[in-house]
Formats: sequence, C-alpha cells, structure tokens
Amino acid sequence: MICSRRGFLAGLAAAPIALSVGCAATRSGDPGPRPLPIPPLAPASVGPDGIRRFRLRALRGTAEILPGKSTPTWGYNGAILGPTLRARRGETVAVTVENALPEATTVHWHGMHVPASMDGGPHQTIAPGGIWEPSWTVEQQAATLWYHPHPHGATEKHVHRGLSGFFLIDDESADALELPKTYGVDDIPLVIQDRRFTADGALDESDPSNIGLLGDTIVTNGIAGAYLDVRTTRVRLRILNGSSGRLYNLALADDREFELVATDGGLLSRPVAARTVHLSPGERVEIVVPVAAGENVMLRSLPIQDRGTLEADLARGFGFDDSFDILELRAARTLRASAAVPDSLVAIAPIAAPGGPVDRSFDLQWFQINQQRMDMNRIDFTVQVDTAEIWSVRNADNWPHNFHVHDVQFLILEINGAPPPSELSGWKDTVYTPPGTNLTLALRFTHHADPTNPYMYHCHLLLHEDRGMMGQFLVLAPGQQPAPRQMGAMTHGHG
Ligand code: C2O
Ligand code: CU
Ligand code: CU
Repeated sequence: MICSRRGFLAGLAAAPIALSVGCAATRSGDPGPRPLPIPPLAPASVGPDGIRRFRLRALRGTAEILPGKSTPTWGYNGAILGPTLRARRGETVAVTVENALPEATTVHWHGMHVPASMDGGPHQTIAPGGIWEPSWTVEQQAATLWYHPHPHGATEKHVHRGLSGFFLIDDESADALELPKTYGVDDIPLVIQDRRFTADGALDESDPSNIGLLGDTIVTNGIAGAYLDVRTTRVRLRILNGSSGRLYNLALADDREFELVATDGGLLSRPVAARTVHLSPGERVEIVVPVAAGENVMLRSLPIQDRGTLEADLARGFGFDDSFDILELRAARTLRASAAVPDSLVAIAPIAAPGGPVDRSFDLQWFQINQQRMDMNRIDFTVQVDTAEIWSVRNADNWPHNFHVHDVQFLILEINGAPPPSELSGWKDTVYTPPGTNLTLALRFTHHADPTNPYMYHCHLLLHEDRGMMGQFLVLAPGQQPAPRQMGAMTHGHG
C-alpha cells in the first residue's frame, strides 16, 4: 500500500500529523473514501523451459486499513493481501513460497485442479523460515481463483490477519469474448472481508460466536471505505468473499440490473441478469455492472434472503440481518463505451444427469461432517481417478454452512430436488448450504492420482473448518492402494 499517497487524499481541512509507522502524513477525523487499491499483478519470469515462475513471501507488516490507523497485519510480498498471480491454461507454473512468519503456514490454491502434493492443504506445512516450491500445469478453464493459508486449526487466524490473494486463469475462449478485461481498469478484482478493530486499530481476534470472526467494518482489497473510479460504461467485478464467516447479498443501491457472467470455476454458459447475488465465504462471482457517465452508485450488501430453516435469533447472531456499503462506483464525466456482454459465453458439458444413484452423502452438523471431526490421520474415503461421482450434501443443522471440495470444480445437479437456478448452473468449488438444504453435486476426478497425499473437503466458514468440519480423500489410480503418511500427535488449534 502506498501510504504517502494518502496524505494527498486525506483532504485539506486538518493539519497532517506524523505517524510513527512511516506513512508520510495523515490527519485525524474522517478523510473520506480512498481509492480501491488494486493488487499488483505478480511479476513472473518465464525461462527457456516455458515455466512461469512466481515468488510469494508471507510476512508481517503494518497496513493502513482504517484511514490514519496503523494495523499489524500479515501479507504476501507486502503488508496485507498478496499480488494477483495470473497464468494461462496449458502453462506450467512454479511458485517459490517463503514463510517469513513466526509460525508455520501453508498456501492453498483454492479452486485449482492440482496434484494433491501441490495443493497447499494442511499436510503441506511450511515451517517458519522455510520454503515450499510447488509446480503444476494449469488444466482448467479461465476463472477467478484465489490462494490462502490452510494450516490445520489456524486457517481463520492466518486469513483474518491478511493472507490471501487472487489467482486468475486465462484461456482462449475467454480471450475471444468481448468482456471487460483490462486488469485494474474495467476488470477489477474485489475481495470483500469484514473486520473488527480494537480501540488502538489492531484487528480484534476475540470471537464469541459460532460463526467465526464477524466484523462490523467492511474492508475491500485491504482498506475500509473504498471507492472505484470507473471510466467505461461497463465494469467487470471479480468478487471474492474472503471473510471468515460472513455471507453477503450483493446489490447496487438503486437496485439496477447487472449481469452475472462467472462463478467459482469460470464463465457461465450465458450471462444471467440479476439484481442481487449471494456469496458465502470462499465463493467468487464475476459480474458486469452498467454505469452511466457522471453518476455514483454504491455496491451494497443487503440482509441475507436465502436462509433455509434458519431461526430468526440465530440469523441475527450470524449477521444475516446486517447491511453494509461495500464499494462506491464513481463514474467519470465521460466514459469509454464497452461492448455489450455476449449472449453466450462458454460451453458447459454436463458431468452426470440428475436423479442418478448417489455415490456418497455428507451430513453437515455442528463442527462435524458425517458425525466426525477432522483427523489428519484418517482418510475418509478414496475415489478412482477418471471417474465421476454424485454426492449428496445435506445441512442437517440449524446453523448455516457451506461446502468446499479441493481439486475439482463441480456442477450442482439439484437443490432440494429441483434443478439449480441459472446463477448456480456453472462451475463451483464452494456452495452455500442454508439450514435444511439438500444438494446433489456432480464431480469428476481427473489427471492426478496420489496414494499418499489427500485432498480436503470442508465447510469454508473458517472457524468451522478450524474446529474440524473437514475431511480428506485420496484420488487413486485403478488398483492403487492408499498409503497415507501418518502424522505425529496433532493439536487442534483453539478447539
Ligand atoms: Cu479455500 Cu480448503 O480452502
Ligand atoms: Cu480449496
Ligand atoms: Cu460451517
């Protein structure tokens, strides 16, 4: 973050005061909104071997999340969040990850189809001072993915302190479409997080709830109170819910229609006109918002509508009644015309027909899946590579949960026995499961078999995941026997 720039934006009324943290100048009082920081694109070197190499260093820093306050944070290559990694389908990427934190961490490529040993889950720990060098070939369509720590029992804390970043995948089909695609100009990565601060500006990590750290302040791309300068008649927002436990129901303040063009795993088959979109922790959407010259319009989050059988008092405690301003879009007085969103985007080949036999069932309840909490030494099941499966996922609880699967992008076959609405008809790796909801999913496991390293599936409400609402599976080649590594005595974080 560029602190000195704030000094100019901070307004003219009050005398700047020097801050000990090294920011050039600031002022007391509310200096008003600041421009949305755009995470820099990570520099990559591509050698003669064609491998695209990135470097990430997890470190401690101080960020100005709140204007004029300095907050101790963790980040990749900087004080908070991380650079945007970007690669094309077919490319081989290699990342050198260095852990300069005082404790062990991992880096998980959320949504990425990767070999299990490169997945960055709780088994791929990087000790303080250590280095991890995963490498894989990108074998999936254009999508907005992300990366974040996944140390067992401490994921919420690591993400909450600031560790996460985008990983964008490009491909020819997406290139060929007339969608806004100039990074940071009309194609904007937007991570939404909620935070609570102590009086001295530190992140408040005290957590009295069963939903996880629930904040009263919205932070977008690392700052509170951001606006975005818009210079084109359409702006594409790649939105990530990077919160621990908060769900969002996003809408424009004047209820205007926008077009939903992508979900977790990539573009939809056609754009879906919408006025609201729900986003549970870990989920992404890409929306294209029409903007008129000279106007200001606020992206907001409204109370959560999709509650299943959730009781009113619990809903309130889980933040479902809250509304927030998220990001103000400020349109310039003259805008460059953007092309209309194409009527058709990409082909989505079905994996399985609805109504087929269910291969596995998952009951979500309390901090458990199928009445069990995560055990690093227990493989919950194995699947065979190059097969498709149908999974049934049931929220048998009175709490909201969601369901995330590593390695694959899946398709939702049914929600409570009905076909999914069009906004949930595309590729997903994380799906919201309101209390009382029953989902069936179709998943196909390809390329990577490994008898030793498991993939995770879990609730992506990070407190729930940390408390053990997670399991692990192996993908095996035909005839292969599981050979998991036994870990030493594991501690369950703040269980
Ligand atoms: Cu985004 Cu297993 O996590
Ligand atoms: Cu993941
Ligand atoms: Cu949960």
